[in-house]
Amino acid sequence: MIATNTTLEREAVQGLQHAQEAGGLSGRPVREKSTFVVSELKRITQGKLPIIGVGGIDSAESAKEKLDAGASLLQVYTGFIYEGPSLVKRIVEGL
Ligand SMILES: Cc1cc2nc3c(=O)[nH]c(=O)nc-3n(C[C@H](O)[C@H](O)[C@H](O)COP(=O)(O)O)c2cc1C
Repeated sequence: MIATNTTLEREAVQGLQHAQEAGGLSGRPVREKSTFVVSELKRITQGKLPIIGVGGIDSAESAKEKLDAGASLLQVYTGFIYEGPSLVKRIVEGL
C-alpha cells in the first residue's frame, strides 16, 4: 500500500505566492501529514501489508521518519527534483 499522494490542503503554504494554485501539493508541505497516514495505516493493518512511505522525503532524517512510522519501503518524487539523484545515496548512508 502506498501512502500518500499529494494534498489539496493549503494550510502549510498559507500566504505564500503560489499557495492558491490548483492541483496537488507535494514535498515538504505534505511530509507531516503523510507520515501521520503511514502511522495510522501501520496501526490499522498491524503489519499485514507492506507500506510504501512517500511525501516530503528529502533527507535521511525525513526518510527515517517514514520508516519509524511503519514504512517498509520509501518513494521519493519532489525531493528527487530538488536534490537530484545523489539524494538516494545520502539517504542510504544517513540511515
Ligand atoms: C508532477 C507530479 C506528478 C505526479 N504524478 C503522479 C501520478 O501520475 N500518479 C500517482 O499516483 N502519483 C503522482 N504524483 C504523486 C507522487 O507520486 C507522490 O505521491 C507525491 O508527490 C508525494 O511525494 P513527494 O513529496 O516525494 O513528491 C505526482 C506528483 C508530482 C509532483
